[in-house]
Amino acid sequence: ATTVTLARTGQKMPLVSFGLWKVTNEICADTVYNAIKSGYRLFDGACDYGNEKEAGEGVRRAIVDGLVKREELFITTKLWNTFHSKEHVASAARKQLQDWGLEYFDLFLIHFPVSLEYVDPNHRYPPAWWGDDKKVHTSNDTIQETWTAMEQLVDDGLAKNIGISNFSGQSIIDILRYARYAPQVLQIEIHPYLTQEPLVKLCQVLGIAVTAYSSLGPQGYIELGMDKSLPSLLSHSSVIQIAEAHAKTPAQVILRWATQRNIAVIPKSNNQERLTQNVQCIGFDLSKADMKTISSLNQDLRLNDPAEIDPRLAIFA
Ligand code: A2P
Repeated sequence: ATTVTLARTGQKMPLVSFGLWKVTNEICADTVYNAIKSGYRLFDGACDYGNEKEAGEGVRRAIVDGLVKREELFITTKLWNTFHSKEHVASAARKQLQDWGLEYFDLFLIHFPVSLEYVDPNHRYPPAWWGDDKKVHTSNDTIQETWTAMEQLVDDGLAKNIGISNFSGQSIIDILRYARYAPQVLQIEIHPYLTQEPLVKLCQVLGIAVTAYSSLGPQGYIELGMDKSLPSLLSHSSVIQIAEAHAKTPAQVILRWATQRNIAVIPKSNNQERLTQNVQCIGFDLSKADMKTISSLNQDLRLNDPAEIDPRLAIFA
């Protein structure tokens, strides 16, 4: 399979897609255009990535040049934490649609289960975790209020599917108690150092599709210069051995390990050769033993933890 089928709408979501986090503004439009040329159909954005206009420009050019039709693309983006209250959800989504130059999103996710005080986009955009005083200001909006406003986006045709990101199992169960539309997708950090088996299993039981971010593990954080002492995954001897046995690259093996678990991946690359390599990570199968070897690298290593920004944001505790 090259897609996962979303439960409520039956829409097919590609298993291998392109993540826009850390794609710089200068190259974003060309990167999206070239990715479409290389076969990517899903792009995963967010307003705090600060490149939605440029990504939209790449999409627009690809459509004008006849490479792809809008309905063949699957555009995902996310609601930032400062827009959680019911009067801000739709206006945030409309602004993002305008930036992309689109009439609807295929998937709109709540980025984090964290509500922050509203900051007017005319004052600061793209949004951030911090206020002008460099402090985090949490707000009292409940996830129920936000989810109800997200459901309205579906009713109003702004989003075909809605979902969540960085939510725990307990918070998913909670949403299901009041949801008119269950979340279609959960996007979380997953890689061989953070295999997330219980949460993935819960989603599979509940019929919620799972997307992995940071699927190449520390690579995307080494790029940010966050921590140079992080253990490498692409040069791990077990990964290299499996890659050699299948005549694939270590990155392809790690991406295949996820997709073989029916988990969608969204690796980012600024490099055309790696971008092509990544989209070609299906079309071979890892053995049960390979899958087990890679899963056994788990060390519950969470690289994206908002508690490092502010201890009150310990959402995974
Ligand atoms: P680059 O853009 O230079 O290719 P993320 O985890 O946020 O999706 O980021 C992926 C990280 O892994 C980026 O730093 C990216 O750097 C790198 N990367 C992407 N594809 C490959 C690949 N096939 N081989 C090695 N590194 C890769």
